Amino acid sequence: MLKPKILIVIGTRPEAIKMAPIVLELQSRSDEFRPIVCATAQHREMLDQVLQLFGITPDYDLNLMKPGQTLAMVTSRAIEGLDRVLIEAQPDLTLVQGDTTSAMCGALASHYRQVLVGHVEAGLRTGNKYAPFPEEMNRRLIGRLADLHFPPTTHARDILLREHTDPGMVFLTGNTVIDALLWVRDHVEKSPPQFPQSLLDSMKGKQVVLVTGHRRESFGDGFEDLCRAIRDLADQHEDAQFVYPMHLNPNVREPVNRVLAGHERISLIEPLSYEPFVWLMNRSTIVLTDSGGVQEEAPSLGKPVLVMRETTERPEGVDAGNARLVGTNYDKIVQHVSLLLREPSERNKMAAVNNPYGDGTASKRIADSIAEYFESV
Ligand code: UD1
Ligand code: UDP
Repeated sequence: MLKPKILIVIGTRPEAIKMAPIVLELQSRSDEFRPIVCATAQHREMLDQVLQLFGITPDYDLNLMKPGQTLAMVTSRAIEGLDRVLIEAQPDLTLVQGDTTSAMCGALASHYRQVLVGHVEAGLRTGNKYAPFPEEMNRRLIGRLADLHFPPTTHARDILLREHTDPGMVFLTGNTVIDALLWVRDHVEKSPPQFPQSLLDSMKGKQVVLVTGHRRESFGDGFEDLCRAIRDLADQHEDAQFVYPMHLNPNVREPVNRVLAGHERISLIEPLSYEPFVWLMNRSTIVLTDSGGVQEEAPSLGKPVLVMRETTERPEGVDAGNARLVGTNYDKIVQHVSLLLREPSERNKMAAVNNPYGDGTASKRIADSIAEYFESV
């Protein structure tokens, strides 16, 4: 087929970071592809930060986000909005990324219109339908709906093959987050981002613990426990600064502000644009997170990462020695963070630079695989 029209669906911050390299790759190969971008805008401010950084202007913007939205609200509005886009744009292939509600709706709405679906970051599984919630089920559903599958690692590829996915439609590519990370790291090295002087002063001469947390399954007791652990750690470690760029979800901000505000060794800041966030990851001593993307980025930067989850669909970082699972358990978080802050040898064990998630060429591989597929039909 000559120049397939490819609809790229982007809903949230991490999808934008991981889809941006693909959008730029497809745009740069305009003799081969006709890419169109639809932002569901399941996220607003956090999505716009990324789109602006990569210079991407969506062709369609569904402007979905409502404060405190429920899963059902996002799902119904996304399906309806995406259906309108599919009718108008008539794509040959829809690309969705990962496991968000926008991605699941992009796959389902495309299936309803009998449009082919490509799944970027396919094959990740924890095996527990409620962890992460609802992402584990979203990605399993997308796996069933998709035609082309782009697993990032051999582990993810093998899972798809065990699920009897057509091997001829599974393309091992690496994770595009590494493409984005390397691009941004080079930028940041050339021109370091600006930070408020007060934040720079608070980190000066200190170990830095970078914290991010936003998972739904941790709302309530999980967040209470992890926040108490961070507060007590900040009391105990006078040589450390805890920096927490807070997700905009009110379910996150309420406990974080209530338990952690007002401590001189805890900096609660607004979500950072990707460039300053990468700079801060590079500056940090340890990363404490429940994020999927951050778990993938930290090994490339040689940063020890403690994962505040009971289980992970990204075992490669744990196997490589960069990551340890601590859950949202108060004792485990205090014990592991303290150990890493006090013992350089423990940090060094986890700090080797590893790239289990990709080599920075995933978006090219995905574009090549799509081209190959359309040449064959
Ligand atoms: C979503 C994804 C999750 C992903 C995360 C990345 C689903 C079910 N969840 O979770 O997989 O890891 O994004 O961050 O798809 N908000 C704003 N402005 C923003 C973004 C969010 O105000 O730019 C607030 C709003 O009140 C919104 C709430 O956060 O209602 C929750 O956003 P939502 O996308 O529903 O869930 P996340 O927890 O962000
Ligand atoms: N990130 C960012 N600014 C922040 C926090 C995170 O740019 O303040 C980036 C981070 O580098 C990673 C992505 O956002 O690439 C992860 O997003 P998030 O944790 O919201 O979602 P998840 O990866 O868990 O789905």
